[in-house]
Amino acid sequence: MTPRKIIIDTDPGQDDAVAILLALASPELDVLGLTAVAGNVPLHLTERNARIVRDLAGRTDVPVYSGAEAPLERGLVTAEHVHGKTGLDGPPLPEPKAPLAEGHAVDFLIDTLRREPAGTVTLVPVGPLTNIAMALQRAPDIAARIPEIVLMGGAYFEVGNITPAAEFNIYVDPEAAEIVFRSGIPLTVMPLDVTHKALTTRARVDAFAALGNETGRMVAAWTDFFERFDKEKYGSEGAPLHDPCTIAYLLKPDLFTGRRINVEIETQSDLTRGMTVADWWRVTDREANAYFVGDIDADGFFALLTERLARLP
Ligand code: BDR
Ligand code: CA
Repeated sequence: MTPRKIIIDTDPGQDDAVAILLALASPELDVLGLTAVAGNVPLHLTERNARIVRDLAGRTDVPVYSGAEAPLERGLVTAEHVHGKTGLDGPPLPEPKAPLAEGHAVDFLIDTLRREPAGTVTLVPVGPLTNIAMALQRAPDIAARIPEIVLMGGAYFEVGNITPAAEFNIYVDPEAAEIVFRSGIPLTVMPLDVTHKALTTRARVDAFAALGNETGRMVAAWTDFFERFDKEKYGSEGAPLHDPCTIAYLLKPDLFTGRRINVEIETQSDLTRGMTVADWWRVTDREANAYFVGDIDADGFFALLTERLARLP
């Protein structure tokens, strides 16, 4: 089987880190590159964190490109209150072993999509959608070459995590999200509705730690750190492992169920900025533009994740 080519656009983030590791551990996927974007923490930290994570997987061959420093039209909002000062707080972090790839993430996205055969490179954005929107604005021809975008962002039943109405990734750059959701590219969306069901319980974190490799140890320490905030906030057993849902979907789509519906992005209202107005009940005649996921086989998801992380150093 030829592995599926993907580019992960990311703002690591502990859950981003786990998504990247899951992808790098999976022979079904060929990760052409990681493109960093400002989000959970500023860009100089997200591009550094992406390099630390690729090193952990023993994959200095995967290029990391630095991308947008700020959203298209707004000042950056970050989430150190969740992810800590570095974005990857928890275990002590090593220095990255290798530098950034030369060039801008947006150019890498455009050049790669133009160079590879049309329909062969899937985009997996797990942060604010700034880089992806910039690429689509600058090179509208790439839209027709992208077979699918599988992204983490938005919410319907769970409504919001950064404001009462909005999920973080969409809230940070709603104008970018609007460009992506109106692009006509097939979208698969992992909103909070599904990621809030992928909870890192004690037993699941212990299973990472028990793998006996460095990756398992780091992932357990990251998820332990990341949990404290959500446990307190939601009174839940653990924290949602948001971003790895995208990669797990590429590996085992049967773990997930959702609906093809219309999703529009609120960009005007200050109160509901970044809300994903999802027509889950199909009460409008607006055309479906996304496969909006609502449910997950969480045990199957964690079994897959644990089995794959065991393959890494
Ligand atoms: C999303 O926001 C970030 O904090 C996480 O990495 C995830 O991508 C969840 O709302
Ligand atoms: Ca993220």
